[in-house]
Amino acid sequence: MLGKPNCNSINTGLVDTTSRSMSVSENNDVIVIKDLVKKYDDKVAVDGISFSVHDGELFGFLGPNGAGKTTTVRCISTLTNITSGQVLVNGIDIAKDQTEAKKYMGVIQQQISLDKDLTIRENMISHAMYHGMGKKEREERIAELSDYFGLGEYLDKPVDSLSGGWKKRAAIVCAMLHQPKVLFLDEPTTGLDINARRLLWDVVKRLNSTGTTIVLTTHYIEEAQVLCDRVGIIDHGKIIALDTPRELINRTGKMCVENMEGEKTVYRYFPHMADAQQYITDNHLEDAIMRRTSLEDVFVELTGKSVGDQR
Ligand SMILES: Nc1ncnc2c1ncn2[C@@H]1O[C@H](COP(=O)(O)OP(=O)(O)O)[C@@H](O)[C@H]1O
Ligand SMILES: [Mg+2]
Repeated sequence: MLGKPNCNSINTGLVDTTSRSMSVSENNDVIVIKDLVKKYDDKVAVDGISFSVHDGELFGFLGPNGAGKTTTVRCISTLTNITSGQVLVNGIDIAKDQTEAKKYMGVIQQQISLDKDLTIRENMISHAMYHGMGKKEREERIAELSDYFGLGEYLDKPVDSLSGGWKKRAAIVCAMLHQPKVLFLDEPTTGLDINARRLLWDVVKRLNSTGTTIVLTTHYIEEAQVLCDRVGIIDHGKIIALDTPRELINRTGKMCVENMEGEKTVYRYFPHMADAQQYITDNHLEDAIMRRTSLEDVFVELTGKSVGDQR
């Protein structure tokens, strides 16, 4: 069995904030998005969104399939051109200096982009070379990160000998080699079993705790609730709510009363337990269930559908 990564030994290169972080905008936002629009021909994938990600934050994009999560990440990380709007990364406008902006970002796409013809180490070397890292620097960095992620014994094995969770870790190492300030993780745990998912959450939390700003997309509500400092709920290319999970829940009403009306389950939300209890008493709802409101309730309230719904 491989051990869990040891966060104490990692150097993400970000705790020692030097010249790279000097240009974070005054209010400490490492990403600033203004009116971002992305169209594919006539199809509007991202429909005028604006938001910021704070330095050191673990920010989540929660939304159903087709909501525009991947497109947003691809726009910010310069993997696709934006149609209109502005994206600042570490204070740099990606439209003006894409090469410089890229230095601050690492991306792990949903479809893992490791080269299957190469070993894990060869994949890492190829990423390091893409970012212009010299031999000594890349060897040290590969050793350090592989150790941190418990990947040592897999380094010289072919990509396909690893399970999905370990491939994802290898992809994270590749994306972290050049010490990006922000790491994008597009649906990092989709397709992983629950154990692999929890291990990856651990990795993401530890990475964030050592100073890396993380932007992740997910359609797993639990993932957003467990991991993220703030969550942007995205649907039809628009951000329909953005706050901490707790605030999103409080805004909806932190207590939920669930009862059957005919064939239908009806959900009502209340700010306090006493209000919910009063409602049950006043309406003689003997069979009602009173429970805490979840982020899933918030999502259903806002969108009228379950986050797992397919289009
Ligand atoms: N390359 C593309 N060409 C045309 N349409 C696309 C392309 N990529 C995404 N879309 C469309 O844009 C919308 C948003 O997709 P996407 O960003 O992948 O959503 P999510 O990641 O939330 O599932 C969807 O309707 C999708 O079909
Ligand atoms: Mg996607």
